Amino acid sequence: MTTDKSFYVTSPIYYVNDAPHIGHAYTSLACDVLARFKRLDGYRVRFLTGTDEHGQKVEKSAQAAGVDPQAFSDRNSAKFRNLSQALGLSNDDFIRTTEPRHIAACQEIWRRLKERGQIYLGSYSGWYSVRDEAYYAEGELVTAPDGEKRAPTGADVEWVEEPSYFFKLSAWQQPLLDYYAKHPDFVLPQARLNEVMSFVKSGLQDLSVSRTSFRWGIPVPEDPAHVMYVWLDALTNYLTSVGFPDTKTDDYRAFWPADVHMVGKDILRFHAILWPAFLMAADLEPPKRVFAHGWWTIEGQKMSKSLRNVVDPIELAKKYGLDQVRYFLLRELPFGNDGDFSHKAIVHRTNGDLANDYGNLAQRVLSLIARNCAGRVPTPGPLDDADNALLGAAHGLLAEVRADIDVQAFHEALDRIWTVVRAANGYVDRQAPWALAKSDVPRMGTVLYVLAETIRHLGLLAQPFMPGVTGKLLDQLAVPADQRTFASIGPGSALTPGTELPKPTGIVPRYVEATP
Ligand code: MSP
Repeated sequence: MTTDKSFYVTSPIYYVNDAPHIGHAYTSLACDVLARFKRLDGYRVRFLTGTDEHGQKVEKSAQAAGVDPQAFSDRNSAKFRNLSQALGLSNDDFIRTTEPRHIAACQEIWRRLKERGQIYLGSYSGWYSVRDEAYYAEGELVTAPDGEKRAPTGADVEWVEEPSYFFKLSAWQQPLLDYYAKHPDFVLPQARLNEVMSFVKSGLQDLSVSRTSFRWGIPVPEDPAHVMYVWLDALTNYLTSVGFPDTKTDDYRAFWPADVHMVGKDILRFHAILWPAFLMAADLEPPKRVFAHGWWTIEGQKMSKSLRNVVDPIELAKKYGLDQVRYFLLRELPFGNDGDFSHKAIVHRTNGDLANDYGNLAQRVLSLIARNCAGRVPTPGPLDDADNALLGAAHGLLAEVRADIDVQAFHEALDRIWTVVRAANGYVDRQAPWALAKSDVPRMGTVLYVLAETIRHLGLLAQPFMPGVTGKLLDQLAVPADQRTFASIGPGSALTPGTELPKPTGIVPRYVEATP
């Protein structure tokens, strides 16, 4: 495809100490919907995901598992790669931070920072949390009920004293505030930008960016006794994938700065403060947006290994269907908010929104056409107000949904699509094409044509969310593969009357509890 519109979306890279769970799947699925939407909308897209393999957390987990960190990373990175496949993610690259291309990119960014006087040698003494891979100031710590000092996240902290290189983060306080002021959509949701701004306003300290007390990291150029701080290493992955340090490549020019870094709220500060500061200091452009989504609890409880309630996304997709899981995760909560995952809620969405509303609409229309129009796209006669209202709503959806997707309001995009699903079901009830089959065959043809066109739009627009279900729907409308992008939205590419359609089959089954 030739296009000058490009779009770069990234998921966080996942720590290899953990097995993939629903939280990882959530971030990646949101990126996937965005990537698919933009591709269908004519953009050249790059969607990056991968694994974060260095640092003390991974080193300790590898030790606990009795394997060397590289072998440990190889094994666990593969699990995330499998997750991408199982979820049908359309990522264009899968990066591992132990790859040579990434080591080269990190060492280059370090050199650039060093050359520009942004890094100096000192020594760090202070608190560090291995679980969060973060430094905490004394004042940020909280005292747990057991009297121990903890990170504000509840993670254990340890006292660290070692030679370390520092990044002059304090010098970037004002430039960051200026950047936020100039780009009010840099962080979404808006409330999260306010949190970031007040943190930055409260004062930034220089940041320790190298460690000497363990080895599992990228060696600092010209001083290999130090390994780079894992967040400097990890964040740089977004540049590595587009070819950095070579900034002349086609990919780099097309995709940097990134359009959206999708992250969970827990890692927003790293992305909205450290990352743009590192980039500005290295004389590179900061990303256009960081979106921080909320967290899921499971049946009302925090997800944790000790509670044995960790949800495996692959199992979930096997149980309910992949598109059902994708739909549920993006529809159930306003994207950005926290929410609760429950069996009851996913069954409710699957059987209500999907089977009853969407699936049933398609089924009714397709089987009426099969029965009454000899299985061919009917020929419409003159359109009345009700017909124009429904078709107009379907044609107008793209512009509205696009505006929602541009601010990552996935729930609103779906809600809008479902407004037309419900309007179409209401239209079927009122027009009663089964009665027209006996009383007014030409009018029946018009009604079924309007409905077929409407479900074609509902199929096209829901593709980023439910690629499988919508694929089946568009197959049943005999929509050719090259007419499934958003360029085919609107009256210009309407279904051709007389086109033969395949025998209808259901597109979304109801979820029925298996009997034990
Ligand atoms: N390695 C870092 C990211 C580096 S990016 C340069 C990291 N990895 S992680 O594996 O711990 O987390 C990845 C993502 O999973 C985060 O965006 C986090 O918010 C998300 N989630 C983890 N648990 C979650 C829930 N219970 N609910 C929703 N998302 C959650 O952080």
